[in-house]
Amino acid sequence: KILILDFGSQYTQLIARRVRELDVYCEIHPFSHFPEPDEYTKGIILSGSPCSVMDEGAPDLDIKKLEKYPILGICYGAQLLAKKHGGTVSRSEHREYGRAKLAHINAHYDLLKEIEIGSQVWMSHGDTITELPEDFQIIANTESIPVAAYKVEDKPIYGIQFHPEVTHSLDGKALLRNFVVHICGAAQDWTADIFVENTVRELQEKLGDDKVVMGLSGGVDSSVAATLIHQAIGKNLYCIFVDNGLLRKNEFEQVLESYEGMGLNVKGVDAKEDFYKALEGLTDPEDKRKAIGRVFIEVFDREAHTIKDVKWLGQGTIYPDVIESVSVNGPSVTIKSHHNVGGLPEKMNLKVVEPLNLLFKDEVRNVGRALEITDNILGRHPFPGPGLGIRILGDITPDKVRILQEVDDIFISGLKENNLYDEVWQAGAVLLPVQSVGVMGDERTYEQVVALRAVTSLDGMTADWVHLPYEFLADTSNKIINRVKGVNRVVYDISSKPPATIEWE
Ligand code: XMP
Repeated sequence: KILILDFGSQYTQLIARRVRELDVYCEIHPFSHFPEPDEYTKGIILSGSPCSVMDEGAPDLDIKKLEKYPILGICYGAQLLAKKHGGTVSRSEHREYGRAKLAHINAHYDLLKEIEIGSQVWMSHGDTITELPEDFQIIANTESIPVAAYKVEDKPIYGIQFHPEVTHSLDGKALLRNFVVHICGAAQDWTADIFVENTVRELQEKLGDDKVVMGLSGGVDSSVAATLIHQAIGKNLYCIFVDNGLLRKNEFEQVLESYEGMGLNVKGVDAKEDFYKALEGLTDPEDKRKAIGRVFIEVFDREAHTIKDVKWLGQGTIYPDVIESVSVNGPSVTIKSHHNVGGLPEKMNLKVVEPLNLLFKDEVRNVGRALEITDNILGRHPFPGPGLGIRILGDITPDKVRILQEVDDIFISGLKENNLYDEVWQAGAVLLPVQSVGVMGDERTYEQVVALRAVTSLDGMTADWVHLPYEFLADTSNKIINRVKGVNRVVYDISSKPPATIEWE
């Protein structure tokens, strides 16, 4: 495996994803505490950072003790390595941000093998290495900086100023392959098929004849996790799918049907009334999220108690949820509390089994394909745990849910019919707490406004609105206003994240 030590760069997860794309297993750990490298550790990557190595209290670690392994320092990581060996790092007058071209490549070095002069790389730094320690050699520069890449003499230790993990570094993948595969000699055995085989075996050993209960949501993660556990222990997996009254139109029935088709043992629980009652009169977004989370736990707990002798709770947690984030600019603030089943294990006194907690989202999909899960589950857009509850602004009533379900269904079906669904990362409709005047026939109307939202994104952390064709938007708006009683105006959300978020609440 490859160990990635995180100094707080926004790109650290991308490094891991690029390494995984080479079918090489890697782990991210904070620079301040990470597991001792062992016989399986083939190399170490040091990430970038928003800090400057010259800052007082800048992230630091005892690098010397890692130097028996191959090391690749990226940006801050490269500067830290150079500085600790006696080199000089200086603050440049201008931040260098964007594309640059590699010049003067010393191509006989393995790190840049098959990468040509002029190769485009992505820079994002304020500091520059101005002087290298004696036993360091420059292997590439650019027009604006003297040290774009270096190597330590006689050791497989390298530093690069640019970011190979960003796709704008056109040979970034080749560079990472050179390091990870050729220099470190890491095995390329991190594939979906091998993952499935190993995980099923490990689950069998871990779970034995124990019973596992698991809440399904219809989403990719919980479906793939359940399928893996099901392959391992069969009917000892008990799944529960709760209708919280905030699902999309016909979603409860359709998802249950898919699960049954997959051979899972699933109980559908209609708990709509519990949720509506708890939400009555609540308008604050955080209050609504908390109420939905609380009722879910109550309902799930009640249902799980009808199964005898359950020992485990299965969850679809994925790697980004468990990577410990490094906060070098003070504690990060909670923008929204993401409520799904947090708090369940403690309350139920169950041990937790999370077969996907080492996988990124795209890897979960690959595993899903290896398990032959249908596209209609694997290709689904993400849908938030609190469902339409956070897309109905203000208080929630069953009537409003019905209106929004109709609008959402027209929008999403339209995307599918026009082959736009797969181009969009997530789409949905929002019911605004606003009425506007309209005219239908000869009548004045005074009805609700809905907003449509469609975004592209990689992981939900940043997003951009999709430039849907005007004809499609016009057609969708017409259908919504003509068919959904109570709505007389449709708007399209053209905000990116940041500064907006994907959901309105
Ligand atoms: P925001 O609105 O924060 O959303 O830009 C980012 C992504 O997260 C989803 N989301 C949630 N998912 N429980 C979830 O499982 C939640 O409470 C929750 N809130 C937002 C949102 O749909 C988007 O994909």
